[in-house]
Amino acid sequence: MEHPEPSDIEVRQVSPEDAGDMMTFLLTHYYPEEPLTVGTSPPEPETADKEFLLSNVPFGTCFMAFLDGRIVGAVVAGPKDIHEPEHLAEEAKKHAGSKWGRILHLLSAVESASDVCRRFNVPSSLHVHALGVDKEQRGRNLGARLMTAVAQRARDLGHPLVCVDCTSVFSARLVQRLGYQLVNTLRYEDHLDASGQQVIRPPPPHESVQTFVLQL
Ligand code: ACO
Repeated sequence: MEHPEPSDIEVRQVSPEDAGDMMTFLLTHYYPEEPLTVGTSPPEPETADKEFLLSNVPFGTCFMAFLDGRIVGAVVAGPKDIHEPEHLAEEAKKHAGSKWGRILHLLSAVESASDVCRRFNVPSSLHVHALGVDKEQRGRNLGARLMTAVAQRARDLGHPLVCVDCTSVFSARLVQRLGYQLVNTLRYEDHLDASGQQVIRPPPPHESVQTFVLQL
């Protein structure tokens, strides 16, 4: 298959009118492989999960990549502040017992351990919640281009940091290449619920969620 030149790809901010198309893309190219979604049952993402991603669109911090007018990549990001660890702990409690609750249980533990705003002594950070590239277009640097658009937007909005919890080995490698700094690693096998059961069981090669930060 012939691959497009990088110049054939256009990266654009997601507007509220594009939000439905973005979700359709994520349902096809992101959720079916994203390790937290795949590592908990049932396989489909819950409404609360999808609503959370969509709630980031109004901030103007989500981007899509287009090839010949077709969506081939998407990134969802949103702001957070020093209260994020407490906020996520509350959200995890609120959704306890559901698939989204199990995902939040892990993300809350990750946020408490990384605590990036307090760790770097900054008032806010732009947090990347989801990154997906069309399978046919992987390995063409599209993920990196979307992450670069997020970093530029973070600068424009005055956030001193971009932060991402890489649930996949592929996104972790990608951000390392972009100069992100590793601040925390949580191995999936070490994250247990109150009865000692592993909360999320992603398939190989994914072994941990790694939190990375880019200082702007
Ligand atoms: N499975 C197998 N190989 C992959 C995958 C994958 N999921 N992703 C990338 N690769 C390969 C590429 O083909 C390329 O190989 P090559 O060097 O032989 O050409 C190499 O890894 C480097 O690819 P990148 O350009 O760094 O990756 P790209 O930007 O195309 O895609 C992404 C990375 C977006 C993470 C992609 O894997 C994806 O969409 N995954 C599904 C959703 C997901 O899990 N997202 C990450 C979790 S969300 C988060 O961490 C915030």
